Amino acid sequence: MAAFQPSLECDNISNIHSEQTDSDLIQKTDERYRDTLPNLPKGKGWITEHLVQYQGFWLTPNAALKNLMWVQDHFKPRPTDIFLASFPKSGTTWLKALIFATVNRTRYGFADHPLLTTGPHDCFPFLDAHLQEKDRSRFDLDRFPSPRLLSIHIPYILLPNSMTDHQSCRFVYICRDPKDVLVSKWLFLNKLGPKDLPPISLEEAFELFCQGISHYGPFWDHVLGYWEGSLETPEKILFLKYEDLKKEPLVVVKRLGDFLGYPFSLEEESKGVVEEIVKLCSFENLSTLEVNKVSEQKFSKDTIIDNRHFFRKGKVGDWKTYLTTEMVERLDEITYEKLLGSGLVFGS
Ligand code: A3P
Repeated sequence: MAAFQPSLECDNISNIHSEQTDSDLIQKTDERYRDTLPNLPKGKGWITEHLVQYQGFWLTPNAALKNLMWVQDHFKPRPTDIFLASFPKSGTTWLKALIFATVNRTRYGFADHPLLTTGPHDCFPFLDAHLQEKDRSRFDLDRFPSPRLLSIHIPYILLPNSMTDHQSCRFVYICRDPKDVLVSKWLFLNKLGPKDLPPISLEEAFELFCQGISHYGPFWDHVLGYWEGSLETPEKILFLKYEDLKKEPLVVVKRLGDFLGYPFSLEEESKGVVEEIVKLCSFENLSTLEVNKVSEQKFSKDTIIDNRHFFRKGKVGDWKTYLTTEMVERLDEITYEKLLGSGLVFGS
């Protein structure tokens, strides 16, 4: 299915790659990728044979690394772009729905809202998956109307200056207690794991996570990059926690509206629009919709994931069901040390 986009006029920027075609740029990325890959350190993969370390972060060698290089070298941000950034399994799916619903709230009624029939990942595509999409017409960034809603797992410090310097384009970052991230990630990846590789045990996943070896890890460096960015440029990066969103969804959604330049009016508040958005995007609602129970999410030709895998329990503290006391102590200690002095804390 093509990425869902509201039917707006496209900006008059349809040919931003005027001097070079898309395939020229992809070929250049391929060349840099082929030159770079052999020299990168390798670590054990969770569902692939290995991950590679590039500029301090662990990435899947083909998909994530190659796409990152394309973003670094060729992606052209627009001032109106809205990026949702996250470490995987931190609440990306939820935030996609909330941002989409907030930004487009005057366009759609809640009774026949696109999120009722289209999965959040189709409403708000991953820029990280752009290059893997062989059918270029399915994901033609130049033709996306503004504001483009694009999701990334790319660490902040690896983003090109054109994205971080840009005064206007905005980032919403969602983070989550690493213990819940680890458990959610381990369970998720074991559901996706290829048949020819044995599933990874929780003990092994834990060790790798603590060493920073997980998709887009180390977790702490990822979070700190956006945290520090948000302290430096709070008008550009809104830093959110999954736990706060669970506790006070109305407060956080109102902040989201203000930050994105779509503040809720008093009239909207009195009519209960914020409540409607929260209800529409709630775990209880989204996880029971047909589209999120039976459909597949086609991220690219080779990456197809059942939508239902993005909705497991949606709880804070489910790590208690899985992690031993020793694991909890060690992970909390690492988190404490890594975040010391940053001002960022996670509840335990
Ligand atoms: P659990 O595995 O702990 O249940 P991501 O979207 O970044 O992949 O994160 C997935 C996690 O977010 C899963 O956590 C999933 O259940 C949870 N999630 C998905 N949709 C949600 C929603 N609408 N509200 C709260 N949590 C949600």
